[in-house]
Amino acid sequence: MTANFDSAPRLNESLERLDQVSLIHPFTSLRSYAAGEAGEPRIVTGGRGAWIRDQHGREFLDAFAGLYCVNVGYGREEIADAIANQARKLAYYHAYAGATNEPAIRLADKILSMAPKGMKRVYFGLSGSDANETQVKLVWYYNNVLGRPQKKKIISRRRGYHGGTIISGALTGLDVYHAGFDLPYGPIRHTTAPHHYWEAKPGMSEDAFSAQCADDLERLILEEGPETVAAFIGEPALGTGGIVPPPAGYWAAIQAVLRKYDILLIADEVVCGFGRLGENFGSDVYDMAPDLITVAKGLTSAYLPLSGVIVGERVWEVLQAGQDTYGAFSHGYTYSAHPVCAAAGLANLELIEREDIMGNVRSVGPYLLAQLQAAFADHPKVGEVRGVGMLAAIEFVADKDAKTRFDPAERIGARVSAACSDLGLIARGMPGGDILGFAPPLVLTKDDVGVIVERVGKALATVFPAA
Ligand SMILES: Cc1ncc(COP(=O)(O)O)c(C=O)c1O
Repeated sequence: MTANFDSAPRLNESLERLDQVSLIHPFTSLRSYAAGEAGEPRIVTGGRGAWIRDQHGREFLDAFAGLYCVNVGYGREEIADAIANQARKLAYYHAYAGATNEPAIRLADKILSMAPKGMKRVYFGLSGSDANETQVKLVWYYNNVLGRPQKKKIISRRRGYHGGTIISGALTGLDVYHAGFDLPYGPIRHTTAPHHYWEAKPGMSEDAFSAQCADDLERLILEEGPETVAAFIGEPALGTGGIVPPPAGYWAAIQAVLRKYDILLIADEVVCGFGRLGENFGSDVYDMAPDLITVAKGLTSAYLPLSGVIVGERVWEVLQAGQDTYGAFSHGYTYSAHPVCAAAGLANLELIEREDIMGNVRSVGPYLLAQLQAAFADHPKVGEVRGVGMLAAIEFVADKDAKTRFDPAERIGARVSAACSDLGLIARGMPGGDILGFAPPLVLTKDDVGVIVERVGKALATVFPAA
């Protein structure tokens, strides 16, 4: 064996250059990045509340909370202490074959106490993607135990986002995440995106559009054969697909169809769960009665990776019965129910409760939306300003009256996002459209909202100087 001198630590390189020659970054143009053509890497060195700092000491208002996950804000000593204390006491033990640990037990109990009624158990993973992977396995297992091996298809929505692994990536309904990866893969189908602005016929009410979405779903189920369709997965409000609250009546109409054909509902609450919409779960906001719930992000406010699958009564009964056919439930990860991650989750949920952070969402969230609407809804290049809870988005259009999109080559969303960043504001250029997304920490203040509106205004003036 010869030493790999090419990859020996390069002490003379700047951190920025070392990053470019060492890391593969998600969702990044690899060659341009490696060649240093994508601008200087932003090395994030610290954060407090809704603000982060880079290697040059520049401060940014992070109006996307990382990736809509640092819900209680940066720099929370309480969570850091809980992590350190647990790591000292017991950094790890597995949860296989009935082994367990106190933080995981208490966190599962806490989650069940917050969850919509009828939820019976929690299974822990590490990411939203792996939790959705677990969901699909549970749904398949459920139908195998019930003796319905042909009932396996999962219906998702176009513009839904459910992760980046093979099956969670297949569930995702955005082409940009499929291209080059042979996705979608497996028994996954996609139905209409619940986005009234683009998908409804001119003059159609939200309720009528919801009825159409339900009709589209029923038609797809009948085409596929109801005996082959196992589950439907959806985010209560669309996240990465554009930050789109559902049209009025949507979930009631969809759930009626699912009940008719004995199809399970999986609520992907990875973004909406734990307060982002001002309630424990998005399901509470939209009167959803899911059979299975996916959680991640806000469960620990991303202080450590942790996800969960919350299993409702109907599925739980069948999973237990599976023992008669399959013996032990043979699914798990080394890090399932990790004690340090669970301790972070407990400390995070305690903070949310103690500081009434959901109360802040209910007051500052609508204020953020109202201020964005007042400032930008009439802008000639803005088609829609929308939001719910502490989520908001501005969608840009080439022609407001004709409702036409910009040529994607113009990269308007990305350019507005970059202009915001130059002004010290992080707002995300969402994939699959020219959309500027906001999902700030749930501790955002009204003063922070003033900063957001002012900086977005300046960014728009840069990108659309003639407007
Ligand atoms: C709704 C939803 N589900 C699943 C995921 C995947 O989570 P992760 O990136 O932790 O795998 C995401 C990530 O953004 C998400 O928004």
